Amino acid sequence: MPKLQWKPSTILNPAPVVMVTCAGDKAKPNIITIAWTGTICSDPPMVSISVRPERYSHGLIVASRQFVINLVTRQLVRAADFCGVKSGRDIDKFSAAGLTPAPASVVNAPLIQESPVNIECAVSRMLHLGSHDMFIAKIVAVNVDERLIDAKGKLRLDRAGLACYNHGEYFGLGRPAIGYFGYSVRKRKKLKRNIKK
Ligand SMILES: Cc1cc2nc3c(=O)[nH]c(=O)nc-3n(C[C@H](O)[C@H](O)[C@H](O)COP(=O)(O)O)c2cc1C
Repeated sequence: MPKLQWKPSTILNPAPVVMVTCAGDKAKPNIITIAWTGTICSDPPMVSISVRPERYSHGLIVASRQFVINLVTRQLVRAADFCGVKSGRDIDKFSAAGLTPAPASVVNAPLIQESPVNIECAVSRMLHLGSHDMFIAKIVAVNVDERLIDAKGKLRLDRAGLACYNHGEYFGLGRPAIGYFGYSVRKRKKLKRNIKK
């Protein structure tokens, strides 16, 4: 397979796409769309988001040291795109995008009611990396749409219709799954249905 050698770039794909909510003492709550985010530790559960200092949300997060990561579904992709091209300096993105703010359980920033999973975060460190500042944060609470819990009490995130971001385009995650954790080493007859070895 011949390969082209390109200069270093942010080519890692697919990326998540999330709507991050933040709030200031006097400022109205805001929403910023973020692709540069990820889980960075399991215990304690931690995440990072990378935000350019010129974003309006950057100042809110620096001041409050809190934010909420709201997962994006297919139905929310248009709103997420909108929140990623408009600034809270100019408009109230909650009302402009038709999203509903709801109180979080621990942090001051609101949740987005329409998002199925809201991850409340408290910033523990900020790293100046260059174009972006990375906020490293502990997850202090998780809110899950109860309709995603099945009869056995299991979270069915596969039913949430989550979206991701791939090289400038949004994609919905499809079903059925094409594999699951550890399936490559499971005995063939123990494989769950619809999974090809
Ligand atoms: C799909 C997508 C992903 C984005 N990811 C980031 C990101 O990771 N970090 C960032 O600083 N801006 C990112 N942006 C840009 C901001 O969301 C955008 O500049 C937004 O208008 C900032 O809002 P604010 O000024 O209200 O904070 C992204 C935009 C889109 C559409």
